[in-house]
Amino acid sequence: MTIIDGKEVSLAVKNRIAEQVKQSGIKPGLAVIIVGNDPASRVYVNNKKKACEYCGFLSEEYALPESTTLDELLSLIHKLNEDDKIDGILCQLPLPKHLDEKEVIAAISPKKDVDAFSEVNVGKIMIGDYSFLPCTPAGVMELLSYYNIEVAGKNAVVIGRSNIVGKPMAMLLLHADATVTVCHSKTKGIKEICRKADIIVVATGRRNTLTADMVKEGVTVIDVGMNRDENGKLCGDVDFESVKEKADFITPVPGGVGPMTIAMLMQNTLSAYKNNRK
Ligand code: GUN
Repeated sequence: MTIIDGKEVSLAVKNRIAEQVKQSGIKPGLAVIIVGNDPASRVYVNNKKKACEYCGFLSEEYALPESTTLDELLSLIHKLNEDDKIDGILCQLPLPKHLDEKEVIAAISPKKDVDAFSEVNVGKIMIGDYSFLPCTPAGVMELLSYYNIEVAGKNAVVIGRSNIVGKPMAMLLLHADATVTVCHSKTKGIKEICRKADIIVVATGRRNTLTADMVKEGVTVIDVGMNRDENGKLCGDVDFESVKEKADFITPVPGGVGPMTIAMLMQNTLSAYKNNRK
């Protein structure tokens, strides 16, 4: 059994990017917008800033108060859309309730939408013509490739159907020639479905979504969850201790998928630079 090391792989990706940036003397720019005081969002945004510094990118942070109006947020985004120093714009989610996330995402120019959340970029993912890869699913694919885990022809199960992870994850696995099943809270017979899977990606946001009785020997398990257990300790969606006894490959939480999301965001920002400044 191998515990997949997301820190190692993310470092390899960031080193590759930093090297390119240094060699070509370029300065890709990422603007990160955070509204309100959500502590988890604060941690994510700080990590994104650190990764920008590591890769030699320009990073601008816009920390706006909880009381920010939709008009104020949209006018900031419009200004950043026109700013030639900025290649990528990311608005950290979730937003305070009075701000419509759909409208905010739609305001970001698809050319700078490094999260790949906009309708244009989601559509492009669907047809396999990628400008930007959705960060978390792309990070999962990078992990599979780094560990030489074959995807083509394999049975892959994705548990969870969110727009950010589950749905684009299923598309990337499908484009890599897996046979993909998407399970969710209304799925019947999930245990039998999972027991046939060679690769399982779990992204439900619920602890113990996947337990040892649901997997076959030799499975690869990727845990996208980020939860706290009863002692306040970080944990994923997978019952790691029991599932690891049957798995060939498994990601831990923390230190698995998490660092990869940020590495792929850096990759997208570099791609945006290359496309935007031709
Ligand atoms: N909130 C949780 N994950 C993400 C992400 O990947 N991007 C943004 N913008 N917000 C998030």
